[in-house]
Amino acid sequence: MATTNSGRAGQRAGRPIGLPDTGIYAHVVGWGMAVPDKIMTNDDMSAIVDTTDEWIQSRTGIKERRIASDKESTATLGLKAAQRALDIADVLPTELDLVIVATSSAEHIFPSTASLIQAWLGATNAGAFDLSAACSGFVYGMQMAAQSIRSGAIRTAVIIGSETMSRVVDWSDRGTCILFGDGAGAVVLRASDTEGGVLSAILRSDGTGGDLLGLPGFGSNDIDGVVEIANGHRQGKMHMNGGEVFKFATRVIGESLTQATDQAGIKVSDLKVIVPHQANARILQAAARSLKINESQFMMNLDRYGNTSAASIPIALCEAVQTGRILPDDYVGFVGFGGGLTWAAMVLKWGAPQSAPAATNFINRQRRLFAYNLATFRRTLQRVSRRLNNLIGRLRPQGKMERLRKRVEREPFE
Ligand code: COA
Repeated sequence: MATTNSGRAGQRAGRPIGLPDTGIYAHVVGWGMAVPDKIMTNDDMSAIVDTTDEWIQSRTGIKERRIASDKESTATLGLKAAQRALDIADVLPTELDLVIVATSSAEHIFPSTASLIQAWLGATNAGAFDLSAACSGFVYGMQMAAQSIRSGAIRTAVIIGSETMSRVVDWSDRGTCILFGDGAGAVVLRASDTEGGVLSAILRSDGTGGDLLGLPGFGSNDIDGVVEIANGHRQGKMHMNGGEVFKFATRVIGESLTQATDQAGIKVSDLKVIVPHQANARILQAAARSLKINESQFMMNLDRYGNTSAASIPIALCEAVQTGRILPDDYVGFVGFGGGLTWAAMVLKWGAPQSAPAATNFINRQRRLFAYNLATFRRTLQRVSRRLNNLIGRLRPQGKMERLRKRVEREPFE
């Protein structure tokens, strides 16, 4: 799906393309991340599968990853990341029009993880949905929200990438389980009349490569509750052809970044930072070579988190902003790739407007906390009232029958 090629090559950098010029721009105004406390090092991994720290580091660049506790899930991590992003943006949950969760490890098929988070936030004016595009999902979600904002349909959205990959990897397959980790990142996108924000995006898919990377089961092919899975793949567990995915990834990173920067009217070398999906350091090194750029242009933190699928770009973005690698007016690139096969690249002109004065921030933080508590209260109240209604419903027919019986006794049929 080419979403933005309107044939306006050479248009002025800083002006988004693909939609009529509405004068509305979609800017990142908040960012947040949440990772579990539990760290699993490569040495810890070697107690589970036949591997070594040396093998994992030399083939992938990964040193450790985070693993969710029993109390954590895709929704709870996503919620925390979203709350942090709302704090930075100084946006109230009731101001959100849209909650998108990009994930490959959703809490359920439905209700969506996005709907759970929407309720926990108290985002009572928002629509919510999960987006399934594997590790490209966050960039897809950003583009869906940005287009909605630029068209004038909505003003504010939170896009969350959240994963508990530890629940869906095959812990007996050393070729995949060593790569993945858990975590969440989120971004608040907001309408602004300041030029910039999301400038261009390339979204692509090649379903013919669907067998190279997948997570089978729990779908409409599950006739009679028994999924037949080919090639020894396991239901609910990820499988991957590492070599083929490696080749695919190195090809599409360069290709899609070049297309996205062309559309934005800039060059790849103009990007201050490229925030890529954090799959493998060697993939990114190969992509840097093919793009003829210095690999330091890529933001990399996969050594500490591994591959967190749809969460990896927003987590890396948070750390890039927090460490001062991204400043106002910088051009920033995102590039994601993964199962589907899917891939996506995006160019933004960073321009997070100044946050509100500290006093307003403080008051709004209290208002957000109040909204979260109110959301918890509302959920409890709704559950209790549903139970009460059920109870009354069960009692009511008996009451009617009883009244009828008494009436019949008083007024016998003739
Ligand atoms: N520890 C030790 N040895 C391992 C191992 C592990 N965790 N995993 C595989 N091996 C072994 C293999 O069994 C094989 O042994 P053999 O030669 O005796 O048969 C050997 O290492 C080489 O395996 P191979 O699969 O060719 O390794 P590789 O260099 O291609 O690296 C990946 C494997 C998975 C690291 C690499 O293919 C990769 O990163 N691919 C992309 C994956 C990815 O990023 N996926 C997510 C995209 S969103």
